[in-house]
Amino acid sequence: METCKTVAKLREHIAGLRRQGFSVGLVPTMGFLHAGHMALVAQAAREADRVIVSIFVNPTQFGDPSDLENYPRDTERDLAMLRDAGVEAVFLPSVEDIYPQGAETIVETMRLANVLHGEVREGHFRGVATVVAKLFNIVQPDLACFGEKDYQQLQVIRQMVKDLHFPLRIIGCPTVREADGLALSSRNVRLSPEDRLAALVLNQALDRAEEMCGNGATVEELLAEVTAVIQAEPRSHLRAVDVTEAITLRPVSGKPAGPLALMISAEFGDVLLIDQREISP
Ligand code: PAF
Repeated sequence: METCKTVAKLREHIAGLRRQGFSVGLVPTMGFLHAGHMALVAQAAREADRVIVSIFVNPTQFGDPSDLENYPRDTERDLAMLRDAGVEAVFLPSVEDIYPQGAETIVETMRLANVLHGEVREGHFRGVATVVAKLFNIVQPDLACFGEKDYQQLQVIRQMVKDLHFPLRIIGCPTVREADGLALSSRNVRLSPEDRLAALVLNQALDRAEEMCGNGATVEELLAEVTAVIQAEPRSHLRAVDVTEAITLRPVSGKPAGPLALMISAEFGDVLLIDQREISP
């Protein structure tokens, strides 16, 4: 497995793969890998001849400097996992590589970035779109894999790819959960045992909403129930709950006519978790 710390080295390596006629799949990550990331790698390996994984904790998508500082990192462990999974190359750029001095270009999906979780995490999706656009330009992959857990992020990226005519395929992969239902996230290691247990309420609220939606509930009833379920857990601090039209994330009310996106963000201690699901009437 090749470890590329600069844009130039990665580009040279990818040029070699292209000369051999290989297709390339990209899995962008911020490291501290878990089974959810490895499912993205496995999906990319099924769809492309060679898989490139980027590990970059992107400063521009963090609002709170302490959240960026506390983001868990373990590059040696990540590299071992990727080597075992048969990854072709890992891109480990520095902040200066991705954001050279004087850089002033940003990418923003104007509406999608600023609804829902974008309202509580100001600038977050601008940071995501900007770094992902840079990664797409650097790697020029045939396809890229992203988790459906970050549902809004996935829609932002799909929209950006469409708007900017990036010639690649975006593959959304199902959320991977622990046996007890907690969605895998690199942030989970920072939860105390009590908060880890309390955080199960996220999946329970999604289950409850999915059941109610299947039984004909209105959007308002879903919102009220999810809010009540989360607030009944004393260790949770609900930051946002939203129900929108799936994919477009446009507002919706009353009896839904088609699939909905349900998104929750809540803090447990000082750890912000999100969980989201597409549900259908
Ligand atoms: O989902 C993530 O880990 C990040 O938001 C991403 C897509 C790697 C961009 O930094």
